[in-house]
Amino acid sequence: MYVAEGIRKRFGGVVALDGARLDLRPGSVHALLGENGAGKSTLVEILAGALPPDEGELRLRGRPVRFATTREAVRQGVAVVSQEPGLFPDLDVLANLYPACELRRAGLFLDRPAMARKAAPVLAELEFTRPPTTRVGELSLAERQLVAIARALLEDPAVLILDEPTSALQADAAARLLRILAALRTRQVAVVYVSHVLEEVLQLCDEVTVLRDGRNVLTGTPMAELTLEKIVHAMVGSRPSAPAAPPRGTAGGPVLRLAGVSVPGRLDQVDLSAAAGEIVGLAGIAGAGQNAVLEVVCGLAAPSAGVLTYPGGRPRPRDLRQAVKAGVAVVPSDRRRLGLMLDRPLWENIAQVNTVALGRTGWWVRARDLREQASAAARRLRIGAGDPERRAGQLSGGNQQKVVFAKWLAAAPGLVLLDDPTRGVDVGAKAEMHAIVRELAAEGRIVLLTSTDPAELAGLCDRVLVFRRGRVAAELSGDRLSESAILHTSHGADHDAD
Ligand SMILES: Nc1ncnc2c1ncn2[C@@H]1O[C@H](COP(=O)(O)OP(=O)(O)OP(=O)(O)O)[C@@H](O)[C@H]1O
Ligand SMILES: [Mg+2]
Repeated sequence: MYVAEGIRKRFGGVVALDGARLDLRPGSVHALLGENGAGKSTLVEILAGALPPDEGELRLRGRPVRFATTREAVRQGVAVVSQEPGLFPDLDVLANLYPACELRRAGLFLDRPAMARKAAPVLAELEFTRPPTTRVGELSLAERQLVAIARALLEDPAVLILDEPTSALQADAAARLLRILAALRTRQVAVVYVSHVLEEVLQLCDEVTVLRDGRNVLTGTPMAELTLEKIVHAMVGSRPSAPAAPPRGTAGGPVLRLAGVSVPGRLDQVDLSAAAGEIVGLAGIAGAGQNAVLEVVCGLAAPSAGVLTYPGGRPRPRDLRQAVKAGVAVVPSDRRRLGLMLDRPLWENIAQVNTVALGRTGWWVRARDLREQASAAARRLRIGAGDPERRAGQLSGGNQQKVVFAKWLAAAPGLVLLDDPTRGVDVGAKAEMHAIVRELAAEGRIVLLTSTDPAELAGLCDRVLVFRRGRVAAELSGDRLSESAILHTSHGADHDAD
């Protein structure tokens, strides 16, 4: 009922889509897959009227359409949740749920009570608990993602397109969304689902389209004919897989230690230690304390009680700049907020921590070295076709996340804080990032990692501390460390005294 055919789109010299096709049917959840940079978001923007195609045709219910704006698309029943949802940070949740142009047309006197009444069941279904009067700028990334999803659901669309909607969501919130999408299927909505979480895709989707370099590898293949292996193969082709992990370093040497550390409302007398060579995972439902630990360690949050001891007896950094100088690297999950110089080439972004924050100056002399280093990182993580001159802002979402990762690690830190570092990154690059994290540990760095993906924590970490209400509720390692144990203890199903 909504078909895109022969879609071509280029950005300057980059061909994003090269004759792509997508065929949507009512009552079917259609997975749109491909590696970072394959062209998924570009196709989504074209379907949603946010971007005009250079060539090709869109047909909705049999009729050719050409939307000049996303509002026009919405009016014809096509709603989208973008990969980087454009919300208004200064407006509250309720205002964000109703598109700007409607608001303006309605004038100053909006029927906010009516808006709230209409939104309430949708927000409740998503278990969005903040009051609708909360400013969007105060919300976490996951909460903003839920607002964008609620906004699209409120349009009551015939075609709903979601571009990586669960990338910042915790497992339980993601599961709720999947249930909502399954319900939409029975209401005959055509759903497009873009995700790098292939387990989700296998569980939810009816058909699969895979793009590689802007061309179709699979086009609406029924899920019944596919397996995880077949999908991965379609995405990456016959590229060699990630290298085997290096031997583990033996723990010993420098240690990071937290003793009785509290942050009002967030951490309650937390004890924790991590030694050189260790990868320590921090798990928990959203806001349970795992992020507060990273923030207090890197100087973004101040402890109200307790003692922090850093490797080499260094003092506690008071801000991010001091942290970087003290050899602490912070890879944030929210690449837009703590991020990139979008109009600068990716080699400058990767070199930035070294040159600017660490003052390892003379970059004009060594620019060639820096470029060379950056291209090595770009090749290894397959960022922007390995071209260090590409502007960061022109990279796909997942590739931007890889740049954030590469730039912090270029500084060779002793203590590495990773906050959901593989959010939105494709399977191949995810394996490569995991290999890099293992290398860092093997070289004797201390690694602290949070993740919204319990499988990642179970697979990568030596130990996982599970947080509940600001406290360490359990420590899992060895045989007790598994994805399901993390999920269970996060939700309070254990026998620990509380
Ligand atoms: N505004 C832009 N300017 C220049 N190049 C762009 C722009 N938007 C996208 N591209 C390029 O088009 C290609 C496809 O990008 P797209 O965002 O569609 O990928 P994607 O499949 O969504 O990847 P991801 O999984 O990382 O989100 C990439 O090479 C990207 O760098
Ligand atoms: Mg994308």
